[in-house]
Amino acid sequence: MNIRYLKKERLFKIDTAHVSYVMAVVDEEQFLEHVYFGRRLQDSDLRYLLRHLETPFLPSTNKGDRGKVLACMKHELPGELCGDHRDGAVTIRSAGGHTALQPYYVSHRIYQGKDKLEGLPATFGHADGTETLEITMEDPVLKARFLLSWSVFSDSDAIMRSLKVINDSKEPVRLEKALSISLDMDLADADQKPFRLLTLDGAWARERHMNYRDIGYGFQGICSNRGESSHHEHPFLGLVSPSATQHRGEVYGFHLAYSGNFRGQVERDVFDTVRVTLGINPDRFSFVLRPGESFQAPEGIMVYSCEGLGGMTRTLHDLYRNHLIRGVWKDRKRPILINNWEATYFNFDSDKLLDIARAAKEAGIEMFVMDDGWFGKRDTDTSGLGDWFVNEKKIKGGLKKLVDEINALGMKFGIWIEPEMISPDSDLYRAHPDWAIRIPGRDPVQIRNQYVLDLSRKEVLDTVYERIANVLKSANIEYVKWDMNRTLTDFGGAFLGAENQDELCHRYVLGLYEMQRRLVDDFPNLLLENCSSGGARFDPGMLYYSPQIWCSDNTDAIERLMIQEGTALLYPLSTMGAHVSVTPNHIVGRNTAFETRGNVALAGTFGYELDITKLGEKELAAIPQQIALYHKYNDLIRRGDYYRIASYRENHLYDCWAVVSKDKSEAVVTYVQVLKIPDDRSRTLRIPGLDPGRDYAVIVDRTSDIAPEDDPSVILPVGPRARIHGDALMYAGLPMPNFWGDFRSAIIYLSEI
Ligand code: GLA
Repeated sequence: MNIRYLKKERLFKIDTAHVSYVMAVVDEEQFLEHVYFGRRLQDSDLRYLLRHLETPFLPSTNKGDRGKVLACMKHELPGELCGDHRDGAVTIRSAGGHTALQPYYVSHRIYQGKDKLEGLPATFGHADGTETLEITMEDPVLKARFLLSWSVFSDSDAIMRSLKVINDSKEPVRLEKALSISLDMDLADADQKPFRLLTLDGAWARERHMNYRDIGYGFQGICSNRGESSHHEHPFLGLVSPSATQHRGEVYGFHLAYSGNFRGQVERDVFDTVRVTLGINPDRFSFVLRPGESFQAPEGIMVYSCEGLGGMTRTLHDLYRNHLIRGVWKDRKRPILINNWEATYFNFDSDKLLDIARAAKEAGIEMFVMDDGWFGKRDTDTSGLGDWFVNEKKIKGGLKKLVDEINALGMKFGIWIEPEMISPDSDLYRAHPDWAIRIPGRDPVQIRNQYVLDLSRKEVLDTVYERIANVLKSANIEYVKWDMNRTLTDFGGAFLGAENQDELCHRYVLGLYEMQRRLVDDFPNLLLENCSSGGARFDPGMLYYSPQIWCSDNTDAIERLMIQEGTALLYPLSTMGAHVSVTPNHIVGRNTAFETRGNVALAGTFGYELDITKLGEKELAAIPQQIALYHKYNDLIRRGDYYRIASYRENHLYDCWAVVSKDKSEAVVTYVQVLKIPDDRSRTLRIPGLDPGRDYAVIVDRTSDIAPEDDPSVILPVGPRARIHGDALMYAGLPMPNFWGDFRSAIIYLSEI
């Protein structure tokens, strides 16, 4: 890690162990031009790469063709309407109504450490292992100042970027766009082949599926205008060289630490330069900045990998594990939980919950989580949100009694809440109808029969937080599932003036962050799991507050392969909420082996979401075996390096991933045979990430509801226990079990001998 300013060359060079990021101040006008982002370079004098080094191509000496020059310059902070016709990173509407903007370099500082981003989640590190370059730029006409920062950590190849806009003028201005990332780069990779765009897209119950597309001329991209990062698109852009695989090739990843409306865009111009931008969605966003006021944009994360998608994945996993996730649970093994949602939905009372808890305890489960339906009048999803008072008709004798009884069984207790919401049929709404986000004169849209509370109002936030905190203080509650079950519509804030209405969505996100901050500060030992109708708000912003996030309402093991592949592309396995549920699956009706449901959930936080009192004997007997696997492998899964070996999304037949310990002494490989094909022979898959010089014992870890003797075809072709050299496993491969039937799976454990 090293950030330098080369005075003579007027060049900034940011180096991590394997990556360089370079920019330069050019011309006497002080443009800040992007020079290079990619594999680490030894050479520092890279000004030869600048497009406009020589007169007559300098804007200051070539006034007659200034526009032409600026139109193809690679800007670090592009302006607007000053010659560059591409989409700029910042739009400021002056008091006179104009939006032209041209930022120039003013000064810089390089310092140890990294400043906090006020009110926003962001990566952090110890001062001695963290360095930041802050460049001050300004538009002298608007008197607008821009603080652009790039930070690096000594143990990471990621580069964090942030932007703050300050109004130094004597007039109020309107900030209409402030994108966190803006990067002008060449479209082609080393083979002169255009990069392709990789995005994570989906819907409820099929979140974060990986999709590739060609980058055509003009704009292409992703966005959310739903008030949250959403099921549909994800605040991530990947630029992937067409020959890149999991293990080789060039990949750029751009990720945003933000949980609200975002836009990510790739603009390809006629010179085959691409401008990549990512930040708060400028659509329906604006902020009034009075003289002296500033706006902090969320943090953008940039990763370059020349080791394929896997290289990007491992950089992000380590970054998030070491520099984003906080709190006592950050690196701890999480208690195995059982959640009653799919077991009972709203139809339960404390007797039923205790029956489940007792059976769960007997099977070795460690925590009971009471889901939706315990408060107010809440027997369906049509009422009760906002009335955070225990319904003693269901929870007989009150919450403390139930929690004490569960604790007495030797189990922890967790609870579901949805603090951001209000049901029209609730006492809270009857008392404060104006607390819901709405536009005067319009009947606000209901989704799942509910409205969203206006968290931009302190009074709303304080009241709801206090109600939730009172519940948490009333008993020994050790886990919270914080849900958010609808998107934002009708963007109207009763307390915002007409000129501030476009501030609502961002202020809402700031309110949410403030509430979560209070929660984790006030209850530092609490294990918080965020959730949003499944995984609609799985983003780095939320990860700053909770070490795990519910991945999807879809608990079908086969659907989960694609959801977890896309999620694990960016997020550590320790963050992925994953449970075993019953079959036929409640969402897709599929029947899968209990073993496979367990093996897939073991790739995440692991738990159960079913009525254990109704399970058959074989499945019940398999639970302690699965729990033993969790205890055996979870340290490795939480802390190790993740390798994607095969993708069911791509091959339509099977899926395979591995986690290798950092010291390469052990690995766990999960193989899922989704479809059996006739006359199939075993597949030999290479296992990456091992040490080619060491010997490994190969053990098939079966936890089946079907005994191995019932199923002779599943024996690993190399024998149930073998000793194989690392180079053979890595370069020749390991034959996978050949199962009889669909949806079968195995865990294969490799341990150094
Ligand atoms: C959302 C969550 C589910 C469950 C329900 C309860 O859909 O994703 O896990 O908690 O809400 O209403």
